[in-house]
Amino acid sequence: MLQSKKFMTVSVIVLAIAFLSQSFQNVQPRPPKKLKNIKAFPATMTYNEVDHQMDEFKVDLGVKCNYCHAPSKTEAPKLDMSLDDNPKKEIARSMIRMTIEMNQKYMSTLPHGDTTTVQTITCNTCHRGAAKPFAKLPEVKAIVNGTK
Ligand code: HEC
Ligand code: HEC
Repeated sequence: MLQSKKFMTVSVIVLAIAFLSQSFQNVQPRPPKKLKNIKAFPATMTYNEVDHQMDEFKVDLGVKCNYCHAPSKTEAPKLDMSLDDNPKKEIARSMIRMTIEMNQKYMSTLPHGDTTTVQTITCNTCHRGAAKPFAKLPEVKAIVNGTK
């Protein structure tokens, strides 16, 4: 009984070592991931920067990646982030361009002097955790609709 328990333990360890050395052999330095279909972000952005931005989108809009991204043609339900099949992605591109323009054109010209104190506009400035921002105060609605 004790013998077989010992044997079991030893075989588990041997197996684990075999498995580990096998997987170490298979580890090769992965080439850095490349961006495939970027139209709204600055061309200088790296994959990691875009990826980080995506985590912000998720939180700022209170959604998951599949809110804007479509499933892969061959590996569904896995998402293929480079596809443009989900119409929300193009809306998001407009929003990216709009946000960049607001910062470059309006925020950066504020007379604060010290630019580190200027708050930039982000998706969260409007969205606050919702895909469709709650916006329409009755007053604003009347102005927009031209009834005031
Ligand atoms: C609010 C919409 C939205 C959400 C949510 C979102 N994305 Fe994106 N994603 C985009 C847009 C728009 C682009 C393309 C940007 C451009 O064209 O400059 C993009 C591009 C990407 C790319 C680059 C693909 C390429 O062209 O190579 C990756 C990777 C990516 N997203 C990953 C994610 C991940 C992971 C999540 C979830 C954590 C996520 N996205 C959530 C809108 C979104
Ligand atoms: C100045 C305010 C503002 C900013 C900044 C902003 N949005 Fe929006 N966004 C809106 C409004 C308002 C709507 C709703 C438009 C409508 O009525 O369909 C919207 C709608 C959207 C939608 C479509 C939601 C749906 O389900 O129809 C997406 C996606 C989106 N925004 C993504 C973003 C992303 C990503 C950013 C940051 C890069 C961003 N927005 C920044 C105001 C903003």
